[in-house]
Amino acid sequence: MNRIKVIIGNWKMNLTVPESTLLLERLVKTIKVDKNVVAVCPSHLAIYSAQEISRTSDIEIGAQDAYFEDAGAFTGETSAHQLKGFIKYCIVGHSERRKHFGEGDKIVAKKAAACVRHDIIPIICVGESLHEKMDGLTKLVVTGQLEASLADLTKEEIAKSIIAYEPVWAIGTGHVCEPKKANEVISQIRDLIRALYGEKTAENVHIIYGGSVNSKNAEEFLKESKIDGLLVGGASLDYKEFTTIVNSTERKLDEVKDQKPKIKKSKNKAKKK
Ligand code: PGA
Repeated sequence: MNRIKVIIGNWKMNLTVPESTLLLERLVKTIKVDKNVVAVCPSHLAIYSAQEISRTSDIEIGAQDAYFEDAGAFTGETSAHQLKGFIKYCIVGHSERRKHFGEGDKIVAKKAAACVRHDIIPIICVGESLHEKMDGLTKLVVTGQLEASLADLTKEEIAKSIIAYEPVWAIGTGHVCEPKKANEVISQIRDLIRALYGEKTAENVHIIYGGSVNSKNAEEFLKESKIDGLLVGGASLDYKEFTTIVNSTERKLDEVKDQKPKIKKSKNKAKKK
């Protein structure tokens, strides 16, 4: 099945609000979103202004994280409930959250479920460390993380979610995963989903790759048959880089007939006058 491609920019803890605004204003001018889904994930502080700017374009807004409780005494956290209406996507279980903030699969599962509860599409991240890769444990680690991180979702909810395979050793390092290898792991992830949740879920869920993607290697990943898109960190902070990545995806899709978008694009954004 040909799934629509999804390109997500993860700005991480970078850019002030004015800088985020400037970057998004540039992207709105340079990016032509036709067949893809394109989203950027600014810091929570910049989401409100980003959402305002994005109204004039097809670029969607996502968050980098969301807490699973709706409200309460959780100082410093922002809940999926609070983010609802401002974002369409939310990254959960990014390896930086797993590493620096001690988030395990149980928390990730709760966060994914909270997103779904509030009509936000979770982008659920999994990936092995360098040691695990060296020990030949990639499949074991990734499938274990995935099974546990999806535990609180129904198969219908998984079908509408996005899974990001992000090998930890490839994130922010410039050590990019071989596109063929990423394709193989993504294929294993889809096989696992098929075994656990059935054919329909496996066919519909989007599985994307992330880790040192840039304008030079993006097309190599997108050529691979099982890779449904990209999660781009560092290169998404440069409007020329990110524009090239998105526009090369559009070109790729021009070659593919019979696109059947499963992630519905927001047709009814309130356009600014
Ligand atoms: P990178 O980050 O593209 O800078 O490697 C990817 C990510 O962390 O999502």
